[in-house]
Amino acid sequence: MQVDLRQSWWIRDVEIPTRLVLAPMAGVSVQAFRRQGRRYGAGLVCSEMVSCAGLEHRNERTLGYLRVSRDEHPLAIQIFGSEPGVMAEAARMVVAAGADIVDINFGCPVRKVTKTGAGATLLDDPERACAIVDAVATAVDAPVSVKMRRGLEDGSRACLSIGPRLVDAGAATLTLHPRSARQMYTGHADHSLTAELAELVDVPVIASGDITSRARAQTVLATTGAAAVMVGRAAQGNPWALSEILDGEAADPSREEVAAELIVFIRETVRELGERRASGFLKKFYGWYLGRGRFPRPFKQEVVQLESTEDVVTRLLAAAPGAAELVEQLEAELPDPADEILLDSMPISIYGGG
Ligand SMILES: Cc1cc2nc3c(=O)[nH]c(=O)nc-3n(C[C@H](O)[C@H](O)[C@H](O)COP(=O)(O)O)c2cc1C
Repeated sequence: MQVDLRQSWWIRDVEIPTRLVLAPMAGVSVQAFRRQGRRYGAGLVCSEMVSCAGLEHRNERTLGYLRVSRDEHPLAIQIFGSEPGVMAEAARMVVAAGADIVDINFGCPVRKVTKTGAGATLLDDPERACAIVDAVATAVDAPVSVKMRRGLEDGSRACLSIGPRLVDAGAATLTLHPRSARQMYTGHADHSLTAELAELVDVPVIASGDITSRARAQTVLATTGAAAVMVGRAAQGNPWALSEILDGEAADPSREEVAAELIVFIRETVRELGERRASGFLKKFYGWYLGRGRFPRPFKQEVVQLESTEDVVTRLLAAAPGAAELVEQLEAELPDPADEILLDSMPISIYGGG
């Protein structure tokens, strides 16, 4: 059975226009990535995980994650932490910043996060996990979603026992990445668990893990009963993967198209992070965009070595002169930066108050 990926669906009262969700990825899901994801057909985009402790302490860099632009909606902002009260306050802040959905991270396997009792460790502490979801769902009117792994250890089925309890506590949707925390990103996502979870709960389930092609997306949707598929690594430096999954269009952009998307991505990221942070942050994206046989390897290596992002743009335009016109077209379609909800416009009680 073919599932129509262009069919809209709902997370409570939020309409999601397609069945494709762009994954939250730390160090990747900047605003430029999310806006690009929307342009290429993602029905829902998500911020990277934001520390509730960082929000509580009004950490400047953490607050920077709450920059939302008009063309990102519907947007989920993901928070992580282990204290229900602090998570509830963080949820209020992200909704005030413009999030349509508050996503809670019960999946991060990284030690820096799990040692604080947050992320995937909460799968081993269902009482606390439910208390967090309950506190967040009570604090905000926006729907609350939870993203989780299958459990901590290989073979764990913890997600199946905790999932229905999280729904009872107030989760309006569950995203399952059916690998264990121990697995990190090795092995395969076992979507037979996604099917079992979808059978157990009466909220939409989003399937995350190894969705890299239209065929895979169709199979996972058809065999699991999930409402949507989430795409992560396949979309890194490759927004064309999203339209390929959605519409079956071959994901083989011309060099001009690749250079143009990368140039727009660079400029937007510099605007968001500033030149100093952006120039380091962007290096991995150069490899992702220019690899896949799109540009010769020495060219990619040369670009990564360049000092400033302006040098990179100049080099890209020299290698693919036709990109200039495409960049102009893309930039003309982007909304005015003045339309962004900036922190300055948030009520002082939200981010500056005690
Ligand atoms: C670099 C990277 C960063 C990630 N950061 C987050 C995160 O902040 N929050 C989260 O819930 N999942 C995070 N994930 C997991 C992804 O959202 C997704 O569940 C996982 O990559 C499996 O999907 P994929 O096979 O499509 O990549 C991250 C994954 C990667 C590769």
